[in-house]
Amino acid sequence: FVSNMLDLMQRVVFCALLGSVCASCPPRCECSEAAHTVKCVSKDLRGIPAGIPGYTRNLFITGNQISRIGPESFRGLENLTSLSLSNNRISEVESHTFLRLRSLRSLDLSNNQLAVIHPEAFTVLSQSLRELNLSRALYNYSSVKDLVTSLRWSSLGTLRGLDLSDNNLIFLPPRMFSHLNSLQRLQLSNNSLVAIQNSTLSDLEQLEELDLTLNALKTLSEEGLQELDSLPRAAVLLGDNPFTCMCGIEPFALWLNRSQDRIRDAESLMCAFPASMKNTSLLAVGSLTLGCYERDAGADLALQTSYVFLGIVLGFIGLIFVLVLYLNRKGIKKRIYDMRDACREVWEGYHYRFEMDSDPRLSQVSTSADV
Ligand SMILES: *[C@@H]1O[C@H](CO)[C@@H](O)[C@H](O)[C@H]1NC(C)=O
Ligand SMILES: *[C@@H]1O[C@H](CO)[C@@H](O)[C@H](O)[C@H]1NC(C)=O
Ligand SMILES: *[C@@H]1O[C@H](CO)[C@@H](O)[C@H](O)[C@H]1NC(C)=O
Ligand SMILES: *[C@@H]1O[C@H](CO)[C@@H](O)[C@H](O)[C@H]1NC(C)=O
Ligand SMILES: *[C@@H]1O[C@H](CO)[C@@H](O)[C@H](O)[C@H]1NC(C)=O
Ligand SMILES: *[C@@H]1O[C@H](CO)[C@@H](O)[C@H](O)[C@H]1NC(C)=O
Ligand SMILES: *[C@@H]1O[C@H](CO)[C@@H](O)[C@H](O)[C@H]1NC(C)=O
Repeated sequence: FVSNMLDLMQRVVFCALLGSVCASCPPRCECSEAAHTVKCVSKDLRGIPAGIPGYTRNLFITGNQISRIGPESFRGLENLTSLSLSNNRISEVESHTFLRLRSLRSLDLSNNQLAVIHPEAFTVLSQSLRELNLSRALYNYSSVKDLVTSLRWSSLGTLRGLDLSDNNLIFLPPRMFSHLNSLQRLQLSNNSLVAIQNSTLSDLEQLEELDLTLNALKTLSEEGLQELDSLPRAAVLLGDNPFTCMCGIEPFALWLNRSQDRIRDAESLMCAFPASMKNTSLLAVGSLTLGCYERDAGADLALQTSYVFLGIVLGFIGLIFVLVLYLNRKGIKKRIYDMRDACREVWEGYHYRFEMDSDPRLSQVSTSADV
């Protein structure tokens, strides 16, 4: 304890002598000069603390209650290369917040609630930024529009990795990434994307990894397949989507078979719907005939079902008819005999009357002939 006190005294004296150059540590943070690292983790901070030492290369200000960051937040941190602001409830990032962090390579804003992102929010003057993590960071669809604007205006032509996973994204505006010409890794996993449209993935010639797992893709349209084909070098992941193996999915399945070298998880992709196709490999669907041609498979199945049903009903009616006949065989026999007797009576009656009628004429004729 005494040596600690002495140490502190020494530092105070040293600091007094050297003035502001003295490397201190902001309250509620832990600083390690040897590791060039400062951590202010889960300390209920309401803003970025002042006095972060200039030697800092790795700065973690995570799990606090910071709601807004701006150009005044980070000063004199010329050697900062990695900045994590994850899990802070940040809702607003102003333009030029990171402008003077000229060594910044990695920025982690994951797990925040970004509602307002100003157009030049991510600009770094030296264009040193390589990794931007916005996983689970966007508040609602308005933030997506802000993000599109700032991806365009923040001079991110040298960015290599962008993580947009876990954001409930439903739709990606066309050309959203077209200013990220060096992008190599794009994470879009665990969103709600239902389609890949024209121009969604324009100008991503350098892309090497595209993660589309855990989305809401039921199939990929001709348009979507073309977009994926426009990424010549990208390895794509498509697992955990609710692929629906009905009519119209065959082109996708055949494309999948052709593109197995690029679709890393092609072999493990399964139909999720309809229930009868569950766990069928999507690759196999290309060679199966789903029996749909022009008509919809569901309607086809319904039609077949109704034919079968009709057949059963007719068969049942026929069976009952035969049964009724059998049970009533005595009565029917009797009635047939009755009917025969009745017919006979009628016939005999007719015959008799005919004979009676013809008799006089016959006698007349014979008498006249005699005459
Ligand atoms: C930044 O790093 C360089 C080289 O390691 C060093 O000379 C300089 O003093 C550092 N800047 C600060 C503010 O500590
Ligand atoms: C982004 O942040 C999330 C959550 O903090 C983490 O799980 C993920 O690995 C990060 N992404 C990248 C590319 O490092
Ligand atoms: C997003 O949230 C902001 C702030 O609560 C709100 O003003 C805006 O209308 C919301 N936008 C959408 C599309 O819900
Ligand atoms: C997907 O993202 C939501 C938030 O958007 C999160 O609650 C959920 O845990 C994530 N699921 C996975 C499997 O990462
Ligand atoms: C997508 O592009 C194709 C031609 O490449 C075009 O026929 C189609 O209408 C486009 N779709 C949309 C939604 O713009
Ligand atoms: C599908 O596969 C999963 C795991 O492989 C299994 O739990 C499930 O019972 C299977 N479903 C059907 C309908 O075969
Ligand atoms: C995939 O394509 C090859 C020919 O390139 C073919 O021999 C094979 O049967 C196809 N596989 C399926 C599952 O359709």
